[in-house]
Amino acid sequence: MRNIAIIGTGYVGLVSGSGISDFGHNVICADINEDKIKLLNKGQIPIYEPGLEELVLRNVQANRLSFTTNLKEAIQKSEVVFIAVGTPQSENGEADISAVNAVAKTIGENLNNKKVICTKSTVPIGTGEIVSGIINENKSTEAEFEYVSNPEFLREGSAVKDFLWPDRIVIGSESEWAFEIMKDVYRPLYINDTPIVNTTVETAELIKYASNAFLSLKISYINEISALCEKVGADVHVVAKTMGSDGRISPKFLHPGPGFGGSCFPKDTSALVSMAQNKNVPMRTIQAAIETNVHQKKRMVIKLHALTGDFSGLTIGILGLAFKSKTDDVRESASLEMVGSLLKAGAQIKAYDPEANTSFTEFFPEITYCKTWEEAVKNTDAVAVMTEWNEFRTMDLKKLKYLMKSPIILDTRNILSRKELQKNGFSFDNVGRPMASMQ
Ligand code: UDX
Repeated sequence: MRNIAIIGTGYVGLVSGSGISDFGHNVICADINEDKIKLLNKGQIPIYEPGLEELVLRNVQANRLSFTTNLKEAIQKSEVVFIAVGTPQSENGEADISAVNAVAKTIGENLNNKKVICTKSTVPIGTGEIVSGIINENKSTEAEFEYVSNPEFLREGSAVKDFLWPDRIVIGSESEWAFEIMKDVYRPLYINDTPIVNTTVETAELIKYASNAFLSLKISYINEISALCEKVGADVHVVAKTMGSDGRISPKFLHPGPGFGGSCFPKDTSALVSMAQNKNVPMRTIQAAIETNVHQKKRMVIKLHALTGDFSGLTIGILGLAFKSKTDDVRESASLEMVGSLLKAGAQIKAYDPEANTSFTEFFPEITYCKTWEEAVKNTDAVAVMTEWNEFRTMDLKKLKYLMKSPIILDTRNILSRKELQKNGFSFDNVGRPMASMQ
């Protein structure tokens, strides 16, 4: 059992902290945001993430997990300190590591014995050196530490599962002592044969960006193929499935859609391009993936326009605001582009998302938010399905048609049966499956 501090209680910090305490360690999660810590101490989870509440409560009850705003105490009581604060995108596309640097300073000032200082946040290559430098500048001469880069590969919506059953653990460290401690932190996974990769700090930092950029590339690739499918009469799902049955390709991350969003792919692809540019290395493929993604979001608006004609004066129902299902996160969601374009063109919006209405309000307070899909589609001229929530997959199409003013639907996630839509007299479109290939 080890004493561990996690600084930052966002997605990565909270999931990692509760996950590591579930492995049997004593974990203190610290954050300077008092409201967040107050909520957590009342047993309330500030984000929607399936399974997280149960994981947190289980470990709090077992006295292995606690929350505090006292960073000093959390650091001093621990032998491993994880940095898990946000690294938002700055205006030039690079990741803003000012929060990471601030935590590094606090760690330096409070370093009371030899510790492992480990960064989990996604940080630009070279941050390890910067963080180590800041700690060195602020610590007392006798205090010691070893630096580790331990990037996280959590997906929102399945973050708990991804943490407890990862494909691999990456530990970037030059120190054998630190590596052995980190292996012990992940002991239950290690004894279950989860691959643990020990590499340099820089390699570990790059692995995270290279992984996210490659997945973004895969999605943009299939989205472009979907556009071609529409023109030539091919079915993108058959193309993706068959491509994916080649073991070298794999079927994962080949689902066409309205363009990827979220906090990682858009941010990490831009950061990688910008980092590489600074080293005079062009990242043409990633740049193309970013451009394709921007265009894919616009393509959804064009598709809806092709179904409805001029948007002005129309009422459009938007089903799904989150960037994907099982999350309340709307960052870089395709719905932002759709709603923004529709409003600009003079349409009225009625929107519904099972979890993300509140977060979308921050961007578009002026639209009408509904409590059910039925309410959102009522008296609309057209509906766009933007997120793949299960409750949209199972919508009663007869009821949908009855509620709408005119039966026009754009399914940007390909979750509705085209046959059923046709049978019920809908005018519709989806992504990459032309109507001619319906049989
Ligand atoms: C991602 C990475 O998967 C994770 O490893 C990393 O640590 C953080 O970023 P996340 O952003 O939570 O996770 O979601 P993910 O499930 O990867 O989806 C990202 C976006 O791509 C979503 O908008 C999703 O709808 C879209 N997507 C995903 C597709 O359009 N098609 C796919 O095949 C897969």
